Parts: sequence; C-alpha cells; structure tokens
Amino acid sequence: MPPYKTSGCGSPWRTAGRLPQRIANIQSMRQMVQSEVYPVPPEFAARAHVDAAAYERLYRWSIEDPDGFWKKEAAFLDWIKPFTEVSDTSFDVNNFRVRWFADGTLNGSVNCIDRHLAAKADKPAVFWEGDTPGESRVVTWGELADKVNRLANVLKSLGVGKGDVVAIYLPVIPEVMVAMMATIRIGAVHTVVFSGFSAESLENRIADSKAKVLITADEGFRGGRISPLKRNADDAVRNQPSIEHVIVVRRSGAEVPFTPGRDLWYDEATEAADPWCEPVEVGAEDPLFILYTSGSTGKPKGLVHTTAGYLVHAGTSWRIIFDWHEGDVFWSTADVGWVTAHSYKLYGPLLNGATTVMFEGVPSWPDASRWWSIIEKHRVNIFYTAPTALRSLMREGEAPVRKHDLSSLRVLGSVGEPINPEAWRWFHSVIGGGRCPIVDNYWQTETGAVTLVPIPGAIPNKPGMAAKPYFGIRPEVVSPEGVTLEGPAEGNMCFRGSWPGQARTILHDHERFLKTYFAPFPGRFFSGDGVTRDEDGYYRIAGRVDDVINVSGHRLGTVELESAIASHPAVAEAAVVGYNHDVKGQGVFAYVTLKADMPETEELRAEIRQWVRARISPIASPDIVQWAPALPKNRAGKILRRILLKIANNDFSDFGDTSTLADASVVEDIIARRKAEL
Ligand code: WTA
Repeated sequence: MPPYKTSGCGSPWRTAGRLPQRIANIQSMRQMVQSEVYPVPPEFAARAHVDAAAYERLYRWSIEDPDGFWKKEAAFLDWIKPFTEVSDTSFDVNNFRVRWFADGTLNGSVNCIDRHLAAKADKPAVFWEGDTPGESRVVTWGELADKVNRLANVLKSLGVGKGDVVAIYLPVIPEVMVAMMATIRIGAVHTVVFSGFSAESLENRIADSKAKVLITADEGFRGGRISPLKRNADDAVRNQPSIEHVIVVRRSGAEVPFTPGRDLWYDEATEAADPWCEPVEVGAEDPLFILYTSGSTGKPKGLVHTTAGYLVHAGTSWRIIFDWHEGDVFWSTADVGWVTAHSYKLYGPLLNGATTVMFEGVPSWPDASRWWSIIEKHRVNIFYTAPTALRSLMREGEAPVRKHDLSSLRVLGSVGEPINPEAWRWFHSVIGGGRCPIVDNYWQTETGAVTLVPIPGAIPNKPGMAAKPYFGIRPEVVSPEGVTLEGPAEGNMCFRGSWPGQARTILHDHERFLKTYFAPFPGRFFSGDGVTRDEDGYYRIAGRVDDVINVSGHRLGTVELESAIASHPAVAEAAVVGYNHDVKGQGVFAYVTLKADMPETEELRAEIRQWVRARISPIASPDIVQWAPALPKNRAGKILRRILLKIANNDFSDFGDTSTLADASVVEDIIARRKAEL
C-alpha cells in the first residue's frame, strides 16, 4: 500500500462538505496562497545573517560538498578532541549507517553553558514567568552553571554515569533546563516526558528507557490548575525497578508523599553538593537524549539523538532561521516535553548564549492577553509559537493584543502543523505589525532540527508554506510508486542524503526505525507527511499521510488511542480518526462499539473521554465519541478508515470503491447515527 493517500487527513484548510466542493476549495486556496507573496523587508535583509545571495551560495555548497559545509558548521562547537572524518552515511536499509564527526569528542553542557560564562556570568540566561501573573524569576548564566554543576554531582552521587538514562517529568520551570544540562554534563542521557502526560504514559516511557533516576516536582501549575506530578510519578515508578531515586523539585510547596531512601528534595540535595563537576568527555555519536513520539503503531517510539550532530544542526540552524543577534530576547512557547522545545527553546538558545523567556502557563489565563503582556514586559524580539494557539487567540479579537506594546518584535516563528493562511495573516499583521517575517519551519522529532524554512532575510514568505530547504537538506516529492517528481508536484515528503541532526535509531528497535523511515522509499528518509511543491520551488506540508493525528501540534497515534479506549470495560472495539478542527487543526474522533447490553449514554461518553485523559493525556481525549454498533471492515477484517474519516468530516457521499466491505449496511447505519447527532 503506498503511504500517500490523496484523500488523507491532516490539512485544516480542507472544509467539510461534498467532495467536489472540497477539491474546489483546496484549489482556490492554493491559487490564493500562491499569488500572495510577502517580500523580505530590505532593512531586515541588510542586517540578516543570511540574505538571498548567501542562501543560494551556501545552499549550493551544502549540497555539492556536504562534508565541507558541515565541517565548517561543526566549528561552532567547542571540541575536546577534533574529528578527522566528517560523515559516513548510507540510507540503504541493508547497509544503513549515519555517523557524523564520529571520532571527535566533546561535552554538551560545556558548549551550552561554560563557554558563555566569561562574558555573561551576570547576564540573564532565562526570564521565567510563572503561571500566576507577577510570579517571575531571572536566572543568570552564572546561577545556571552553579545549579547544573551541583545537580550533576547529585546525580553522580546516586550512581548515574555515562550512558545511564535520567527521566525528567517537570513543568516549564528553569529546573528543567538544569536537569537536562546536569544529565549531559556527566555523559548520561535525558528523556523528558511532557508533564501533561498521565502516570501511565510516564510509566511506559520509564519502562522502555530503563531510566535510573526520575526528576519531577511536587506539583505543577497550568492555567490556574494544579497537576499532581509527584503523585503521578509515584504511580509511574511503583512497578519500575529501574528507577533507583526520585528527585523532587519544590514548586508548589504542598505536602506530597515522600519515600525516604528513594526520594530526595532537589533544593536540599543541590545545596549540599559541590558547585563544580568535571564535565565528562563523550564521543560525537554517543547518545544525548531519547524523546518519545507517537507513531502509526501502538507503542510510542523512543527516538535516539546523538551528541555532536544534533548540537551542530540545532545550534547553527537556530541562530540562522530566527536571525538571532547578540542581545535579542527569544521566546518559544513550546512545552519542554516536545522536540520543538528541545532544539529551539533549550539547546538552540543555550548553545548560542541567548537570553530566553520561559513561561509556565497557558495563553488564555488569566485572560487572552497573557502572552502579549509577557512580550511587552521582556521586550521579546523573536517569538515562536504554534498555529493552534494563534487560532484560539484570534477568536478573542484584537483587543487583548492592542493593550500591549509589541513593537520589540522582529521575527515570528510557527511550527508543529501547517499554518492556515488566515492565522498566518493575523499573526503577520496583528502580532507582527506587518513588519516581521514569519519563519514557518517544518521538521520532526526524527529530523532533530529544521528541514524546510523560509530563512527570514533570504526567502520571501508565502502564507502557509514552509518554503525552501535548509542547508544540507535535499527534499524530494515522491509519488506513491516511489518516483521522485520534478517541478510543481504533490506527493510524499522525503529527504535524500543524511544530515547531522537526524535521529539515529528507535531505542531497542532498529528494525522498526528502518522499516518506518527508510524502507517505504528506498534511498530516502520518509517523513510520514504529504507535501506539494509549487512552480517557485516552495514546499507546503499537507499534513500526515500515515495513522498519526496532529492535535494542536501534538502527535497522537491512532492505534495508541484505540487501545486506550478499547481497554475500557464497556467497550468492545474502537476506531479513531483525526477530523478537521477549526482550532486544533485536527480533533480526535472516536467510533466506539460497546459490548452487548451496554447502554449508549452521555455518561458513558464522558467516561470514555475521561478514561483516555487519564491513560494518555488531556490532549488525547476524544472531541467526539460516536457510537457505532459495528465498524466498517473488509472481508479480511481490516477497518476501512478512509470511510470513517469522511463521515467524521460530515462528508457522506462518494465513498469510492466499497465493494470490499464485508457488510455495507454498517456504513449506512453509522451515517444515519452521525446525521441524527448533527
Ligand atoms: C507537523 C515538531 C506543517 C508534521 C517540530 C510533522 C508541520 C510533525 C510543521 C512533527 C510545519 C511540524 N508545517 N507541518 N511548519 N512543523 N509539522 O515530531 O506533520 O512534534 O510530521 O516535531 O508535525 O511533529 P514533532
């Protein structure tokens, strides 16, 4: 089965309705998008790191002589032992290897912190804003270094060493940065788990990564609500013997259960520790971190990133794509549990010695002007967020924005899902005052850092298009048959040839890594996304073409969701699709077949939503639960999701070839039930 489905899910631009109408909408949208071009402001280009001419020159160099190009980029890092060979790579699944700078050695935390101390010890590294307005902290580079060294010594004293895994389950507080840096200082490997995930999701990740220590907090705050992090942590580690110790940051100060011998208070342990910890020398290809992400099958994948290649790609690209200059204040609103934050909130700014804003809360609390007040307060120059948040803030109108002075902004960034042109224009005009380029950067947990992006001083913006390849990246639009298409085209988003920041494997499952990314289209990395390329060579991501749903920029695997629902005692079977959602991009639509004699009640619907919330996370909770006495299957018993997807989008006509359906009346029944609920 070719992975690319033209009727696939994913694009929030697709409106519900009859299919011919939908196609007409898409076409008119494309024409509109293509004719709308926002040139690079000349004064911006004049001081940018990369202008149009530099882009052309550097891109050509990076493709014609990748080793030469990346060798120059690698000089950005401080090495302990310089490398002698730049790359050794092959995407052939029978002879697969991706190695960059392999015989060099270094330490990540030295690159992120120590080397900035001479000039910046007293300068701010982080402006932190708490969930509650008025609660804020400034962390200088010197303080950050002190905390990192102390925590590194604490970890060492707990027996954590090179290659051991440290799990981090923390809210967006400076300690998360400290925890990551302390881990890599001693050559250990971090795995950050989103603090909105349930105890069960945390447990699964600990079980897979065999983490030795867990760093968490007593409680977390988000949007005025408290989350019981320590309680979740206790539940998660109860049956996980790999965890020897739990370090607890005091965030709320609430009384929480404490297991003497196993648990330590972060503040007490770090105060007692020595303020200098010798950084451990690691190899370029030693693992730096593991980050779990949803895939097409049930089990989350632990993608493994290695040290030097990742740091080179994340660090150099961050500076270029956001056109950061010394003194600029940068703010990414991403949660620390996602790759966006790893590369472009933490590692990117840290490697460059940049001052960043960290905000613990949500944009809508206490009111819809919260983000804008933070931009004004810290005179933020570069602001990086996600389309879903913009769409929800747009609904509040311009008044909350107008209350604040956003004139410090110079560059805006968008990531996580395709940005619809309406949100793009609002971001550009209302937030950016019409003067700030929008850096719509496309990449993935797997790619480590950016792949497609309009570099702001070089590439004119077209709303909704991630535009052009980053240096060293060779995008290909590939047909379902595996043919690389030329010129304007539509197909599967693939990349040919390696780049330093790409993930090296899936933890414990290299087979799955090769099968998922390199087997579908031999010789290329397959992203799982659909893409179109226009006559100017601009790329527009069309959304996922596999069984991954992108809800508010968060990846959820349909199988993972279905297993969670099916584990409810009243449920016989479930099928999940992502439907077009105005704010979230995609919403979770669950078709649920109940066990015989189970009543189809509103209470049960609510209970199923709650069930998924508790088992995965609130993000995963189904927006719509549709009762289905049976699911449409073919004679082999495979669920025909294509049909369920159309019904979820209220598109009740033209189901294509339905001759494979084992029982056609099932579809009619579901349609009738859906219509009755509209
Ligand atoms: C989607 C986040 C369109 C895409 C960095 C991808 C995007 C998935 C964009 C990866 C963008 C990310 N335009 N789609 N600018 N950025 N995506 O691993 O579907 O959390 O495959 O990495 O998000 O999500 P992940």
